[in-house]
Amino acid sequence: MTFPRCPRTKAKELSTTNPCFVFGVQKMEFKERDIISLRDFSRSEIDYILDTASLMEPVAHSRSDLLRSKILATLFFEPSTRTRLSFESAMHRLGGSAIGFAGVEISSVKKGENLADTMRVVENYADVIVVRHPLEGAARLAAEFASVPVINGGSGAEEHPTQALLDLYTIMKEKGKIDGLNIALVGDLRYGRTVHSLAYALSLYDVNLFFVSPEMLRMRREVSEAIKEKICVTEKDRLEDVIGDVDVLYMTRIQKERFPEIADYVKVKGSYRVDLKLLENARGNMIVLHPLPRVEEIAPEVDDTVHAKYFQQVWNGIVTRMGLLALILGKIK
Ligand code: NCD
Repeated sequence: MTFPRCPRTKAKELSTTNPCFVFGVQKMEFKERDIISLRDFSRSEIDYILDTASLMEPVAHSRSDLLRSKILATLFFEPSTRTRLSFESAMHRLGGSAIGFAGVEISSVKKGENLADTMRVVENYADVIVVRHPLEGAARLAAEFASVPVINGGSGAEEHPTQALLDLYTIMKEKGKIDGLNIALVGDLRYGRTVHSLAYALSLYDVNLFFVSPEMLRMRREVSEAIKEKICVTEKDRLEDVIGDVDVLYMTRIQKERFPEIADYVKVKGSYRVDLKLLENARGNMIVLHPLPRVEEIAPEVDDTVHAKYFQQVWNGIVTRMGLLALILGKIK
């Protein structure tokens, strides 16, 4: 299947000294590639994935047999609704099939099998594997042991690259651009893995970032140090201080399950809540995003406003993952 492509302006990090560029043209290779961290991707590559996702919009409705006979395995050692079902739905819409497990209780991990062995077994069953694991570094380790491509579906509090890709795709779709936007990442910036991947990716664009969190949940140092070299970041405690200035408000859940001490969670629980009153001070075209699940950080009354785009993100996740699977499995170049 061939798709027409729109010409793009040159990405800002293009450099002839980068070994990935041959005579000034970036050599992009997605086939068989692991998707572990967005630090491993250039802006051109991310833009290319977003372009591919948009090409998948009509295909997602009409269905296709592009990945017929291909098998996706989803190994979820942590709870999930969206990521696992979204990958499976993406695979089915492209004519492929999906196998897997959700929860260690029903897998051989319960019998003491280690991740390396699990990967060496599952690579026989599938052409691509999505892994979600509570331990940081687990996805990279899994990729080292599997001969088929591995996609990180969430590695502890570390990263969640495909969520960030669908977040970027949503911003692009809703705003028509990413460059030039003011974007606030709000809530649990310490334990929330989606904001880590998103911050890495946004640092490749010309954006102003606001990090809004309680002191205890400030952005992980390794992430903020890496991105502050590239873009302007302002840290705030109060959502009220940024609400009038932002184009994108990215809310996150306080990650209760990742706090070593429940007493600390209780101190920051309910720190932020977007409601109609807060939105009175927002820009008319400001969009509210959230990776979901939400707990109490967005009042249900916000769902019916023009700002709410978090359920659209769910659809966008399907097309983004369709594009990614087609690229990784070498069916789209
Ligand atoms: C997120 C996750 O699992 O990291 N959810 C998701 O994948 N869409 C966010 C969260 O759990 O709060």
